[in-house]
Amino acid sequence: MNILVLGSGGREHTFAYKIKQSELCDKLFVAPGNAGTATIAKNIPISVTDFNAIKDLVIKENINMVVVGPEDPLVQGISDFFTKDEQLKDVIVIGPSKEGAKLEGSKEYAKEFLIRHHIPTAAYQSFTADTVNQGKQFLDTLNPPYVLKADGLAAGKGVLILQDIEEAKTELENMLTNKKFGAASEKVVIEEFLDGIELSVFVLTDGKNYLTLPTAKDYKRIGEGDTGLNTGGMGAISPVPFADDAFMAKIEEQIIKPTVDGLAKENIDYKGFIFIGLIKVDEDPKVIEYNVRMGDPETEAVLPRVKTDLVKLFKHVGIQSLNTVDLEIDQRSAATVMTVSGGYPEAYEKGKEIKGIDVISESIVFHAGTKLEGDKVVTNGGRVLAVTSFDNDFRIALKKSYQNIEKLYFERMYYRKDLGFDL
Ligand code: AMP
Ligand code: GLY
Repeated sequence: MNILVLGSGGREHTFAYKIKQSELCDKLFVAPGNAGTATIAKNIPISVTDFNAIKDLVIKENINMVVVGPEDPLVQGISDFFTKDEQLKDVIVIGPSKEGAKLEGSKEYAKEFLIRHHIPTAAYQSFTADTVNQGKQFLDTLNPPYVLKADGLAAGKGVLILQDIEEAKTELENMLTNKKFGAASEKVVIEEFLDGIELSVFVLTDGKNYLTLPTAKDYKRIGEGDTGLNTGGMGAISPVPFADDAFMAKIEEQIIKPTVDGLAKENIDYKGFIFIGLIKVDEDPKVIEYNVRMGDPETEAVLPRVKTDLVKLFKHVGIQSLNTVDLEIDQRSAATVMTVSGGYPEAYEKGKEIKGIDVISESIVFHAGTKLEGDKVVTNGGRVLAVTSFDNDFRIALKKSYQNIEKLYFERMYYRKDLGFDL
């Protein structure tokens, strides 16, 4: 098969790395890709949302499968674009339809879906500019902290958690009336605050059947001890040690099954990943969000543990026969540490030469924001390189990643040295 991966981050390098290992893969393309994907695939400089350019590429290169990394093309309907096109309809697209992608594209849609299918989640109400005063009254009925969520996609920045009631009211007004997050905050979901520890569960579904992939926990804040600004993710550990069999059984019964059954019952075409963000409150899981793709950097920790041929799994997704495959998982833990550009997640410089990648052997280096400049690899984003290591003990896996990061260098490289501190 000829396969195209859409995206340019560490997640997509990891997809390409796994797909490249499959005997089922002939030619591999990544669009637009990075310096890491360039070593194992052909990078094509087109945007993930330029559907016509993607169509031309798929036809020209006889591509049979498209794996969609980020959410934007899914929310914009890339999957429907393929199914509705006479020339593209037989291509397997790993990623849900536009309707399915609303689970990530609209917080209100996701909450309504959760409630309809009796899946445990935080109590909520949603408001618009016309109902901003009711929103403020609703805030008065809650206890702090207050959770405000922009309904639409806001590049991971649309959730505010505030201690002070007056600040919460001001921010609600900023979001609804002053469009703080643009169109994404024309609607705001106000949610009950859930107090507990977070984890993420990843599911691969063909719309009828599903496989539960390993769990992971990511570290979103830039600073040690989970302080400072939110980032795309500073590292991940898989599996999550506290997610024991009993807790996983609850997640499966109360969350995963009703989610997949709910999609099927509502005739929502969904062939792809469901990334379920959960909080463990006392002994019970509650959903805080759905994403309709894999996480980044969770993918860099989760996928290397999947021993089953990834392309084989995707083929079964395409023909809705995931129930006929067994998932084989490496029982060791994986720990991923992300190196970032100094200044990230605020302003940072690009184009810094990266050294040391070639001397790392015991860990895998996944490229996130990198590009080739002549024969040099240079930084090209906030998150630059993800280093993943394995061991039976996640603490030793982390230590291996940290030891190997010391061999890497670029000007103003930063990483968190405390991952796993909370486990
Ligand atoms: P989301 O984009 O919905 O995942 O929210 C971003 C982050 O905000 C989550 O990873 C949680 O840390 C936090 N969060 C979201 N909703 C809640 C909630 N209801 N209670 C507590 N924390 C939350
Ligand atoms: N690491 C969180 C995400 O991919 O959304």
